[in-house]
Amino acid sequence: MRKSYYITTPIYYPSAKPHMGHAYSSIVADFFARFKRIQGFDVFFLTGTDEHGQKIQRSAQNANMDPQSFCDQISKTFFNLSKTLNLSNDDFIRTTENRHKKSVINLWKILEEKNEIYLSKYSGWYSVSDEAFYSEDEIEDVDNKKVSKASGSPVEWVEEESYFFKLSKWQKPLLKFYNENPNFILPESRKNEVISFVKSGLKDLSVSRKSFSWGIQVPSNKDHVIYVWLDALTNYISALNYPDKNDNLYKNFWPASLHLIGKDILRFHAIYWPAFLLAANIPPPKRVYGHGWILSNEQKMSKSKGNILDPLEIIKKYGVDSLRYYLIKEVSFGNDGNISEEKLENCINSDLANNFGNLCQRVISFNEKNINLKIPQSFKFNKEDLQILNNYKNNFDNLIDFVDNQKINEYVNFIQDQLFAANKYFNDQEPWKKKADQERLNTIVYVSLELIRKISILLYPIIPTTTLKVLDIFQIKEGDIEFNSIKNDLILKSDSKIKKISILFKKIEKND
Ligand code: ME8
Ligand code: MG
Repeated sequence: MRKSYYITTPIYYPSAKPHMGHAYSSIVADFFARFKRIQGFDVFFLTGTDEHGQKIQRSAQNANMDPQSFCDQISKTFFNLSKTLNLSNDDFIRTTENRHKKSVINLWKILEEKNEIYLSKYSGWYSVSDEAFYSEDEIEDVDNKKVSKASGSPVEWVEEESYFFKLSKWQKPLLKFYNENPNFILPESRKNEVISFVKSGLKDLSVSRKSFSWGIQVPSNKDHVIYVWLDALTNYISALNYPDKNDNLYKNFWPASLHLIGKDILRFHAIYWPAFLLAANIPPPKRVYGHGWILSNEQKMSKSKGNILDPLEIIKKYGVDSLRYYLIKEVSFGNDGNISEEKLENCINSDLANNFGNLCQRVISFNEKNINLKIPQSFKFNKEDLQILNNYKNNFDNLIDFVDNQKINEYVNFIQDQLFAANKYFNDQEPWKKKADQERLNTIVYVSLELIRKISILLYPIIPTTTLKVLDIFQIKEGDIEFNSIKNDLILKSDSKIKKISILFKKIEKND
């Protein structure tokens, strides 16, 4: 049986249209999904929208719409973005779907049966924007307004009857779980944050609200709706047809391999979610990775600052692969990263147009002029040829390790080095001076084509559309791509025809 890999993005609030931060999480998740697929894994990649709660109810009110129509409308823009970003997701879940509601109600009932939930009263601070409860020491005064220290969003005082989940009881088991699964939370710095927060003591968590109605009703008490985070987190199993634990999706894919999220929602994923699951006797996910913020000109993108880069506009102007490449390469994964049009243009020019585009263009046009668009025959590798080809064999295991440990930048660095090496190889070997030595000329072209094939496979999870164009010249189709094949040097069949290639990335003219 094939090994399985289950990766998720956060399910986004359809409170306003998607922005660059949402695009970022989704693109990175798609990178992992596509890589594991070509590595031969059975992959399930999930994204979707988180549609209940006070934040959505208020946004709908402000738009003078009923919440369901409001969600239908905005969820569609997230769905459309998943297409525009060329995500390879297997499902798109919406928490207003029945399959999800059924799953949440089931989980709630189990928690109630197991005595993990009790009725009491909440009084304290609540941020509707974060859908989070905050204690007194987690808030501060800014301009005479109470805001969350962590997120800066306003908090309001809430006093109402509420069900509580016995989170305090799970403090020790959680610490034990982190200890036994040292890579459950990554990166390391965030793991330490979480552990020290848990060590400082966990209070029971309010898991229902009474003062509004947009949510899933508590099954035993119609006056309450289930706290939106207990609702939302359950999406990761409801998409696998939980509570049917015999369903193939659930059996194959739970526990998830990786919940990819932003650092803003680490506490929900690394504390509450495993606690709910442990309490319900369901295994927690294998890993939660909290990435950093995408900033625009060094500042957090926000509507009030007016510095939002719209992913759709950027894609219209530069193409989806350019944006995908930029976000994966230029952001140091785990840390905050910047995007601006200027940086994006520089990156397109240097890496995509010059390094990758140019390599493909010059090798293929040399081939056209000298061997008539064919894969050469009669060639013999010398030491230099083998040396460059061997880079892929020698680093094969490392590359898989990079992906499995979310070291995306190391993965991209390897590609950068190989692109540089391949261009240098073609320059140094000077095939244009080898017209009297057909065997050597053939060998150089063969090696260069093999390098293009290998690099395209490496780049495929990052820039699928462009690399599929390149691989198509060798008749390699998407379903045929095998990561394993980068170890092999004799994949291209001598004498078969190759196709010509159009410009992959246009260089952007700069007027300075
Ligand atoms: O939190 N930089 O939804 P949300 C990088 N519905 N990533 C960013 C970002 C930025 N500037 N802004 C947003 C929610 N993100 C809940 C999640 S999951 C069970 C429920 C990304 O619409 C990042 O992944 O506020 C962040 O965690 C997520 O969008 C928050 O999206
Ligand atoms: Mg948010």
